[in-house]
Amino acid sequence: MKDFSSTHLLGIKNLSYDDIILIFNIASRFKEVINRPIKKVPTLRDITIANLFFENSTRTKLSFELAEKRLSAEILNFSSLGSSLSKGESLVDTVNNILAMKVDIIVVRHPDPGAALFLSKNINASVVNAGDGSHEHPTQALLDCYSIIERINNIKGKNILLLGDIKHSRVALSNIFCLKKLGANVRVCGPPTLIPKNISDLGVEVSFDMKDSLNWCDVVNVLRIQLERQNLKFFPSLREYAMLYGVNNEVLRSLNKEILIMHPGPINRGVEITSEVADSHQSIILDQVENGVAVRMAILYLLASKIKIS
Ligand code: CP
Repeated sequence: MKDFSSTHLLGIKNLSYDDIILIFNIASRFKEVINRPIKKVPTLRDITIANLFFENSTRTKLSFELAEKRLSAEILNFSSLGSSLSKGESLVDTVNNILAMKVDIIVVRHPDPGAALFLSKNINASVVNAGDGSHEHPTQALLDCYSIIERINNIKGKNILLLGDIKHSRVALSNIFCLKKLGANVRVCGPPTLIPKNISDLGVEVSFDMKDSLNWCDVVNVLRIQLERQNLKFFPSLREYAMLYGVNNEVLRSLNKEILIMHPGPINRGVEITSEVADSHQSIILDQVENGVAVRMAILYLLASKIKIS
């Protein structure tokens, strides 16, 4: 078995094809474990992991916590709300104080792009990026691609559409890197104001026509409008957005084939996707969440293996 190439998981950009396949192979083994009556293994019982969340999260935070518990790691949970950051303590001081309690791996979500990379250069522990601003969300892209492969066997040569707010989405960027490394044809679609100008430099097609794009794709990953990252108005109203770019049953029925529907969550029902589509047989949204635990177990296992042999 090939070795994982890094002591951190900061993004998909610097992962190799072999790294991604290694994560998927180990995730499949852990998926089998978490479907047993006893869902726990002692693999990381000598490892301590701190989950440092400087920004809100439901899925990623709970998924990492459960992955760590399933691997028998010791866990510390930190939330910036109610912490001494409000008293002026710096990010590095906060993290170094947590590391002084003998922590091996930190999982960090932060609103600032580059926060995970910054910490990896300034502290002495393995860093897992659980989402840094509008930059990368590597574990989301890995679980998305794992979920696609689980359903359609192979990503290579398949047409995968990322639909919605591409400009503010860390899920979009990490998905583009991951899908391209796995050989997919990738298209982004959304209102022109929510598509970054030079995104085609990443080797993706650009379209502003939702119906044409849905007809083109095998799989669509529908992305949320990230209102919390928008200081300006990028479109007239959510109602107009839903009319032009919302995925609903009517548009799906008008396509010439059945496509797979994904969404990283949280969903804004009735805006980018209707309830009937999100809850339909075409949707694998909850499979994505289930697979997130196995994929995160695989990543923590690979990083912990590096600590144990160093
Ligand atoms: N998909 C995702 O990152 O969701 P959370 O913000 O709830 O973690």
